[in-house]
Amino acid sequence: MKKQRIKVKPKKPTRWWTKTRVLYQMSNEKKEATFEEFKSKYFNKAEYDKYVNELMESDFWKKLSSNRKYNRYHCDSGINPKAMRNLYAWIRKYKPNVLLETGIKHGFSTSIFLYALHSNKKGVLISVDSWRDSDRGLYVPKELTKRWIEIVCPTSLYLPLVDFNIDFFCHDSAHTVKDMTLEYEWALKHMKKGLITSHDVGTNNAFFDFVKKHNLKWYLVETAAPARFGLGVAEVGVDSSKTMLFNLFSFITTIYNLIKELLNNPQSLNKNK
Ligand SMILES: C[S@@+](CC[C@H](N)C(=O)[O-])C[C@H]1O[C@@H](n2cnc3c(N)ncnc32)[C@H](O)[C@@H]1O
Repeated sequence: MKKQRIKVKPKKPTRWWTKTRVLYQMSNEKKEATFEEFKSKYFNKAEYDKYVNELMESDFWKKLSSNRKYNRYHCDSGINPKAMRNLYAWIRKYKPNVLLETGIKHGFSTSIFLYALHSNKKGVLISVDSWRDSDRGLYVPKELTKRWIEIVCPTSLYLPLVDFNIDFFCHDSAHTVKDMTLEYEWALKHMKKGLITSHDVGTNNAFFDFVKKHNLKWYLVETAAPARFGLGVAEVGVDSSKTMLFNLFSFITTIYNLIKELLNNPQSLNKNK
């Protein structure tokens, strides 16, 4: 009798592109919800529009955008325009004192942060990059560098050596789980209240695992395709008692308005049926 062979299907390994696709779908589903949530949490509409328009109409932005278009091939790894506008608006409104970013390259994120500090007339930006060459910070306008401290060192060597508080953090250096996790953890330890932001959150699970571990509220404020270039934002030190009070107040106001509407216009109840 012929022996029956049992075929065991080998388990397919998860490839990085499958992971990216999954994260892309996830971020696409979440995109609008979390972006709108971020905007309404931090701004009223007029404020957001005011800061974004102020940026878009500036000569600084026009020059930066034309540099980006001109040097498109090299600039694709830089933080993208929508992410820049959102972070600019946040920095303008909340006026952080100490900002730390990792990864300078041509300096798109560096420029936008420095321009926001310049408009605020306060604050400093510390930028850490492992490398220094003629391309590094190429597009950072000279007149904005007064508020800039540049550190040339890999973040895994520099960060464990320093101990100061920051109000805003942006990761855009080496996108390995080890480096990303080390940077996020350092930022959290050195921040009382502010934002931990990260470019390319779709590269791996480091950002998602970090926010989950520390139970931080997070948003995807920009999800360009492919999603690994998306910008994630985690909030640190939100006063939960204030949030609870705010939610309670909103709930009471809604009920009050509903009752008022019903008392003034009892027919509205029938109309809706
Ligand atoms: C994606 S680019 C940064 C783009 C920049 N944020 C922008 O918006 O234009 C990545 C940068 O991270 C730097 N980098 C890579 N590994 C690093 C590390 N371990 N520590 C510090 N910087 C690192 C690279 O030298 C490169 O300049």
